[in-house]
Amino acid sequence: MTSTYHKLYKDWQTDPAAFWAEAAKAIDWYTPATQVYAEDQGAYGRWFAGATTNTCHNCVDRHVANGRADQPAIIYDSPVTGNKQTYTYAELLVEIKALAAVLQDLGVVKGDRVIIYMPMIAESVIAMLACARLGAIHSVVFGGFAGNELATRLDDASPKLIIAASCGLEPNRIVPYKPMIDEAIDIATHKPQHCLMFQRSQHTAELTEGRDIDMAAAMQAARDASVDIPCVPVEATDPLYILYTSGTTGQPKGVVRDNGGHMVALNWSMKAIYDIDPGEVFWAASDVGWVVGHSYIVYAPLLHGNTTIVFEGKPIGTPDAGTFWRVISEHNVASLFTAPTAFRAIKKEDPKGELVGKYDLSNFRSLFLAGERADPDTIEWARATLGVPVIDHWWQTETGWTIAGNPVGLGMLPIKLGSPTVAMPGYDIQVLDDEGHPVETGTLGNIVVKLPLPPSCLPTLWNAEKRFHEAYLEEFPGYYKTADAGYIDEDGYLFIMSRTDDIINVAGHRLSTGAMEEVIAYHPEVAECAVIGIADDLKGQIPVGFLVLNSGVERSEADIEKDVIKLVRDQIGPVAAFKLALSVPRLPKTRSGKILRGTMQKIADAEAWKMPATIDDPAILDEITSALSARNLVRKS
Ligand code: COA
Ligand code: AMP
Repeated sequence: MTSTYHKLYKDWQTDPAAFWAEAAKAIDWYTPATQVYAEDQGAYGRWFAGATTNTCHNCVDRHVANGRADQPAIIYDSPVTGNKQTYTYAELLVEIKALAAVLQDLGVVKGDRVIIYMPMIAESVIAMLACARLGAIHSVVFGGFAGNELATRLDDASPKLIIAASCGLEPNRIVPYKPMIDEAIDIATHKPQHCLMFQRSQHTAELTEGRDIDMAAAMQAARDASVDIPCVPVEATDPLYILYTSGTTGQPKGVVRDNGGHMVALNWSMKAIYDIDPGEVFWAASDVGWVVGHSYIVYAPLLHGNTTIVFEGKPIGTPDAGTFWRVISEHNVASLFTAPTAFRAIKKEDPKGELVGKYDLSNFRSLFLAGERADPDTIEWARATLGVPVIDHWWQTETGWTIAGNPVGLGMLPIKLGSPTVAMPGYDIQVLDDEGHPVETGTLGNIVVKLPLPPSCLPTLWNAEKRFHEAYLEEFPGYYKTADAGYIDEDGYLFIMSRTDDIINVAGHRLSTGAMEEVIAYHPEVAECAVIGIADDLKGQIPVGFLVLNSGVERSEADIEKDVIKLVRDQIGPVAAFKLALSVPRLPKTRSGKILRGTMQKIADAEAWKMPATIDDPAILDEITSALSARNLVRKS
């Protein structure tokens, strides 16, 4: 099939509003937009201004009304508990209405915030959609974050209540959530009124009287009463959710997603990018705590009338490296979307891909990778092992969907290994030098998107309009700064090379080294510190902390290093994967006092580096090299 991509991209360039108005026809609106694109609203304009709609209606009710009542909407598959459960669209609607009734009883109304702290169970999806039904704004917090991170989000989002599960399940341990919730509420200034607790049989939480409510019992009461909670109309521009993501300081950024533009872009992407037809099974092996989970476990597949898989397990060890193939085969998955790190883990366990042979994957069509750079080795291995196209695509929490990709539904473009391919309609991607001038084709620079951003992209940061401007719009006026560096080649293919800020990508998880430094700085025996991300064969990157201890400390370096590792785990969470702390006599700095983190990272990764002209004392770099070598942390080139 010849790709219609180029024609479509041109159509979008010629008349963006007409392009998105056409895509918007696939969504139900109570009242249509008065302006498809209102350029005078918001920081850079707003999409579908004046329209009213409801995301839950579009994800569930309309499918029940239009012939999909008996089609599975969610398949929950949990190799860690051995449970599986299917919810048809009709059954899903009953659950959502029951939870919406409970929320309404507790006083949740349109615009209220609700924090969801749950693992990969169907109830997480039900909770998100119940909030959407009422026009309440959910904020899902990933289970791998510690109580302190939850507290930060409580204070920023000031939710009326928390919906939580009693525990998460990691392959090697049960993770009780209640102690983290208690700790968070204790630390936070904002105290939510209630916590709706979904009790799991693997570990039940002792409920705090007056605050905690048994979620299942409350939902049963609502079901028994056959309470019918209609969808609450919201403005297309009203927030659907806030998703906190890492960025340059310990204070995470609350990315705001609206209702209307989000639905239009996500629904469009299911066919155009993923080539999925309504009724098919789509699986994003991620977590609802991340943007991939929001967009492609929950909203996009349900908007598009697909069946989505909620998988509570890992690519390896639950029970083996064939789990993904078992799920694909058993549930007839047409396309899988995951992070490259999952495939690196599988490849490490089963290098010859022998477990694939145990399963019938004849209906499996394509594998999509995102979240971190897809290294050519992994792509080649996956393609050869599975015999399907392996498609890299690039996006961010801020956008909610693909910025650059290979739109399979429009006709696949030739794949260039190492490139997520081309700009999607909606995005005018450019590469600028530090002064804001366009660079030559093939030259590395700052990747930016010319404003306006397309539907689904963040209109602002929650409670932080100024920070939104500073972080994204100020440095390159007229453009959105992605904070990724890369280049565009002569065929318009984009290559993403690195971040330009302090973000590192650990096992597809976005983490801020600045936030880790803030935590470490609290240690009374640490004078100063620097955290960098170094290359790792499995996780892509892992964090390493360099510590300069106070002079005269009496405890051993090893003890303080252990303390620091525990501190990061307790304050940020196990997901930070912070396991390497190295005491060094000094940190390398410029004469103006800036720590040379980039040079330290190049030394560790055995990349070419030049002695910075402004370095204060070059001998310190030798000390860093020795510290890394002593722990065998300098990459073998
Ligand atoms: N709740 C509690 N703890 C969690 C957690 C959760 N939801 N998710 C991860 N953790 C913990 C892990 O148990 C681990 O703890 P440990 O230090 O005690 O071993 C730690 O956080 C680090 O987790 P992770 O970086 O995921 O490493 P891992 O060794 O457990 O697993 C992979 C490695 C590659 C198998 C795993 O990262 C994976 O499946 N990645 C897929 C990518 C993905 O889902 N990306 C999301 C964006 S698309
Ligand atoms: P997140 O907001 O967690 O989705 O992380 C977004 C960041 O992950 C991007 O800014 C990139 O740095 C990185 N990233 C995501 N997808 C890709 C990709 N396909 N190739 C390279 N980097 C990617």
